[in-house]
Amino acid sequence: MSEQKFTRRDFLQSACISVSALAVSGSGVSAFGAEDTKKSGNSKGLPSCDILIIGSGGAGLRAAVAARKNNPNLTVVVATKMMPSRNATCMAEGGINGVTDFSNGDSYKLHAYDTVKGGAYLVDQDAAIKFCELAGKAIAEMDFAGTLFSRTEKGGVAQRMMGGASKRRCNFSADKTGHILMHSCLDDAISHGVKFLMDHELLEIGVDGGKCEGAVLRDIQTGEIYPILCKSLVVATGGYTRIFYNRTSTPYIATGDGVAAALRAGLGFEDPEMIQFHPTGVQNGGTLITEAARGEGGYLINNKGERFMKNYHEKMELAPRDVVARAIEMEIREGRGYGEGLSSYVLCDVRHLGKETIMKKLPKIRHTAFLFQDIDLVEQPVPIRPTAHYSMGGIEVVSIDDMSTKIPGIYVGGEASCISIHGANRLGGNSLTDAVVTGKLAGEGATKYATNATFGEGAKTVELAKAWQAKFKEVANGQGGMSDIYTLREELGKQNWDNMGIFRTQDKLDALSSALEDIQARYEKIRVADSNAVMNTAFTDYVELGNLILLSRCACLAAQKRLESRGAHTREDFPKRDDANFLKHSIVSMKDNKLELSYKNVVVTEFSLDGRKPQ
Ligand code: FUM
Repeated sequence: MSEQKFTRRDFLQSACISVSALAVSGSGVSAFGAEDTKKSGNSKGLPSCDILIIGSGGAGLRAAVAARKNNPNLTVVVATKMMPSRNATCMAEGGINGVTDFSNGDSYKLHAYDTVKGGAYLVDQDAAIKFCELAGKAIAEMDFAGTLFSRTEKGGVAQRMMGGASKRRCNFSADKTGHILMHSCLDDAISHGVKFLMDHELLEIGVDGGKCEGAVLRDIQTGEIYPILCKSLVVATGGYTRIFYNRTSTPYIATGDGVAAALRAGLGFEDPEMIQFHPTGVQNGGTLITEAARGEGGYLINNKGERFMKNYHEKMELAPRDVVARAIEMEIREGRGYGEGLSSYVLCDVRHLGKETIMKKLPKIRHTAFLFQDIDLVEQPVPIRPTAHYSMGGIEVVSIDDMSTKIPGIYVGGEASCISIHGANRLGGNSLTDAVVTGKLAGEGATKYATNATFGEGAKTVELAKAWQAKFKEVANGQGGMSDIYTLREELGKQNWDNMGIFRTQDKLDALSSALEDIQARYEKIRVADSNAVMNTAFTDYVELGNLILLSRCACLAAQKRLESRGAHTREDFPKRDDANFLKHSIVSMKDNKLELSYKNVVVTEFSLDGRKPQ
């Protein structure tokens, strides 16, 4: 008998399905087997699954596992624009925060305090406290799920310092933590019977009678645009930092598709102006030089050879990210940087750590420095400059308990969501925690809802799918338009960077608002030159650009009206934090195609705003 081999490729492929494998009218062939087909069928002959998850980063994958664990009878499908191994989760390098060692005086409450203070108090404290309690448990869970963490001599999960933290609580796998974590999330999801629609992009969320009934997806490989019904939906599509186009550390897919679709479906976009600039993007291109470089003892140096952070913060290089990013820009502005214009930089120096430590703890950034700067950081400091890194804003959430939204049936997790645990500035190491903690909560919430729900009729979702089919015909008509997608995308990035970057003023934001109107008008005239539906990635670029323009307009509107400086939102014309008027979240919503701005109060429970530590 020949030996049977089951490869990793077989394992991955066993999880990939196409839409034709989804249940239709209770009689279709189902990737989940005959039993599941009956359970998932609906009366309209539309493809369906019980729980649809959009996005395959850490949040989407943990939501999927939670759903399968909580009710194995429900069918769970993850639709993803790209292979999971190419998402933003993989790009978080330094580690995942969570208290697992209490012997040094650390506690969940201290983690929460650091998070609230780091977030410049625009943090809902009840959510932050719950988040930090769950964070410690999440580390144990991910360890159990097979995440290859670096180890202490005693065999425990290794931890390092990160910016804004008062204790060592960032659990890590060298400087590839996100990448390694994502693979264990993916393996866990496949092992739990989660199915994947690969190369599927979200176009719209279908809401009828005030409830979620499904989503419109486009299969990028075939070009087919179709409605898919679900009992509950989890949006875990990540952030929108690509509004700065190529001045970001995040992947090309970070175009906020889920946030934009949720906004169009009627949900609020909370704190859109709060966008984090990571201090250390590599000079050529903005890819991350992890904060762990500083966590392990790296220095930031200006052209005078000075560790300039001593002039800005007592924690020096380990101050919160907003402080370090502003300090670097200030050094450059005042002539203490190197280079010219957008290519200006200061240096990150880790040479004194020695080759052995660098190879053991920071091998990934050594590789990055080789690739992008052609230098070996064992021997030379690496040129760095701040880079757009994280969206603190996202889809408004009703409760952290289940990551539910104001529309029944829609749940959100990870960077796409805003339960306001990061406020105006996220601490390094809290993003992976956010992904696995809120992803799991969203999966549990969606499961509870789907267990008792029935499918909607699908009329609204079908209507939205038809509108997108018509749009494809109109836009991808094989003829050139009056605007070019790629020129416009570059211009959007530059406008956002110049006017809504690290330093903002009313004049700049007003100028941006007008520029965005012009960009929107030119976007309407775009025609995609390739009319072939198959693998038409230009149409994907078109859809993404539309989302990026919409989300830029939201961020600009909220930034124009926030007349204070707080965390990542630095207004040079309003340099002080103004708790009397702005201790509140911006909420942008869409009514009759117009954007509206409102506010909601920040939840303050445990920590006073004078910077006092918890007892
Ligand atoms: O610098 C970093 O390694 C990034 C980590 C994070 O954003 O949490």
